[in-house]
Amino acid sequence: MKTIMIHEMPDHAGETVRIGAWLANKRSSGKIAFLQLRDGSGFVQGVVVKEEVGEEIFAKAKSITQESSLYITAEVTVDERSSFGYELQVKEIELISEAVDYPITPKEHGTEFLMDHRHLWLRSRKQHAIMKIRDEVIRATYEFFHMNGFVKVDPPILTGSSPEGTSELFHTKYFDEDAYLSQSGQLYMEAAAMALGKVYSFGPTFRAEKSKTRRHLIEFWMIEPEMAFVEFEESLEIQEQYVAHIVQSVVQNCPLELERLGRDLSKLEKIQAPFPRISYDDAIKFLNDNGFDDITWGDDFGAPHETAIAESYDMPVFITHYPIGIKPFYMQSHPERDDVVLCADLIAPEGYGEIIGGSERVHDYELMKQRIQEHNLDEAAYEWYLDLSKYGAVPHSGFGLGLERTVAWISGTEHVRETIPFPRLLNRLYP
Ligand code: 4AD
Ligand code: MG
Repeated sequence: MKTIMIHEMPDHAGETVRIGAWLANKRSSGKIAFLQLRDGSGFVQGVVVKEEVGEEIFAKAKSITQESSLYITAEVTVDERSSFGYELQVKEIELISEAVDYPITPKEHGTEFLMDHRHLWLRSRKQHAIMKIRDEVIRATYEFFHMNGFVKVDPPILTGSSPEGTSELFHTKYFDEDAYLSQSGQLYMEAAAMALGKVYSFGPTFRAEKSKTRRHLIEFWMIEPEMAFVEFEESLEIQEQYVAHIVQSVVQNCPLELERLGRDLSKLEKIQAPFPRISYDDAIKFLNDNGFDDITWGDDFGAPHETAIAESYDMPVFITHYPIGIKPFYMQSHPERDDVVLCADLIAPEGYGEIIGGSERVHDYELMKQRIQEHNLDEAAYEWYLDLSKYGAVPHSGFGLGLERTVAWISGTEHVRETIPFPRLLNRLYP
């Protein structure tokens, strides 16, 4: 007999199969027991009928404890009532390992308790659905960039430079030298773009930020494309196509997961390019006209500001052309204005905040040198980076999409801590 996975059941309707599974939950009466089984690939109900399996197997079914591991032999039948569409008519049960007093019971638990048991919490239906959506976003990311001629390049994690400013770096010793955990692979990706044209990276990045919000992780994963000969406007077009592609891939390939999370599909289905654009100037005006008198031109947006702007649209919205003073050193100046740069942040709908930061990059040697000095960066550490504007500099643009914030938005998960398997937060390094 074949051992199959739950997600393969549709191909085995009417057959008797064996699955390896854990017991997620159960309920039973004197004559029938319903086992909620999971095997990682999915969740399915196993029905145990006393009259059919006999006293001994029925008693075994009733005594299995939550999260015990089992081999189940059963017939696959169609079940129109469940959204999965199939169930198992159990014939035999083989206990592999009994779980005694599993800490996460079907009752409600507090967040801190669940976070302390993250290694077990991952087994729950909701967390399973979020991890599957995360995986689909990653799969669709690789698909999108390969379809569009990008090459995947992996920048280093131990670095000597700090693209996004020096205040949020994790410091470490690199033998006798000082090193930092990468806060962005961008500068290396710019070098890679000059070698390979259109490139993207996907890796962990680190911010020693003392932020404790629903949008901030200390360790998060970023997708960072960088494109030679691509100017500001064209970069925005690639960003909106990419984001629409990952959203529609999740809608297409994760219907059960979205349903399990109670996600409103109509909000996701309408996410199609192009996305609206609003300039920073107009965004400030909009905020001031709508009761926000705590922000003036030159200030950066806080979460409430971003949410207020996003609420005027049912699409992600680009806020473009920020003041030069609140953005990193590498952003290209506006051709007609010296107070703003050619950059855009993409703000997700429904209050999920900024999911992309991007810009055209400076490609003039003298200007780049001046910017590095103005930002008090250690010139020696940036010598290699300056070579990029010295030898065959070209217009180029790039951006970084934060995976966890994007997954939070698509899956409708309130806090980013549930969108990464083992979150690193201000006060959490365990488990
Ligand atoms: O806006 P950021 O800081 O941009 C960069 O790092 C650029 N160098 C990227 C580039 O152009 N190649 O970060 C980009 C995105 C943000 O929009 C956000 O989605 C995510 O990374 N992000 C975080 N996600 C979770 N926790 C944090 N602490 C984050 N900081 C940034
Ligand atoms: Mg940003």
